[in-house]
Amino acid sequence: MSTRVALVTGGTGGIGTAIVRRLAKMGYKVATNYRNEEKTQAWRAKVAADGVDALTVRGDVSDPEACKAMVRQIEEKIGPVDVLINNAGITRDTTFHKMTYEQWTDVVNTNLNACFNVTRPIIEGMRARKWGRIVQISSINGQKGQYGQANYAAAKAGMHGFTISLAQENARYGITVNTVSPGYIGTDMVMAVPEEVRAKIVAQIPLGRLGKPDEIAYAVAFFLDDAAAWCTGCNLAVNGGHYMGW
Ligand code: CAA
Repeated sequence: MSTRVALVTGGTGGIGTAIVRRLAKMGYKVATNYRNEEKTQAWRAKVAADGVDALTVRGDVSDPEACKAMVRQIEEKIGPVDVLINNAGITRDTTFHKMTYEQWTDVVNTNLNACFNVTRPIIEGMRARKWGRIVQISSINGQKGQYGQANYAAAKAGMHGFTISLAQENARYGITVNTVSPGYIGTDMVMAVPEEVRAKIVAQIPLGRLGKPDEIAYAVAFFLDDAAAWCTGCNLAVNGGHYMGW
């Protein structure tokens, strides 16, 4: 059990909820951000019914000033953030020749620039306390690319570049930085892919099914364990065998 404070961005989403639940059950004091008040109220009630108590703070991860305020609020309420899971993410899928600048920047701001916005106000405290765990939730599509996802794949690949640089800069401060790259998980995001396209994707997965959100949460928890203290700069691909690159 750990009583440390963990911030999971995008904690009300499919994978995020599983991470929040798992960390809360492991004893962490968990915080997450939200943009939509109504959706978050329903989410709070749902997880509370399972005995999960998470602090929810308003904050858009694509907005640097909002992130500073969000981190300040979390630290005032439950203490300094020792564990950060950069999980918030969106898709705006379309082939590149049709992609608008807005579809590009929405995805890059929310998926990649958010890593700066959220990590920057937290990293100095971790360095001062000489302990921290940071995990980026990237994607299989940052590793292999995906038809219709030039924006998303670029942002997700960038997240691992962020991981391996931060891992080098902060190792001597007791901070490990790793990436988990989920494959196709049975979340709303994946269910929004047209059914016939999704069926073709599932047919390419050797393990023959979509992943479950908790299978990603388990991978995140691995990096937080004291026994994983020698893992830094890793990219753990959890994708049912869909992509087996090194
Ligand atoms: N490889 C080659 N050709 C492909 C293809 C592929 N992977 N996917 C589609 N095509 C072809 C189609 O067969 C079709 O060909 P014809 O014109 O000859 O019939 C053509 O491309 C259709 O292209 P359009 O650009 O006209 O199609 P569109 O703009 O309507 O939609 C799309 C394209 C948005 C990319 C749609 O196919 C789609 O949603 N694909 C799934 C993208 C995807 O996997 N997103 C992942 C979301 S979940 C997520 O991101 C989580 C995670 O981390 C895994």
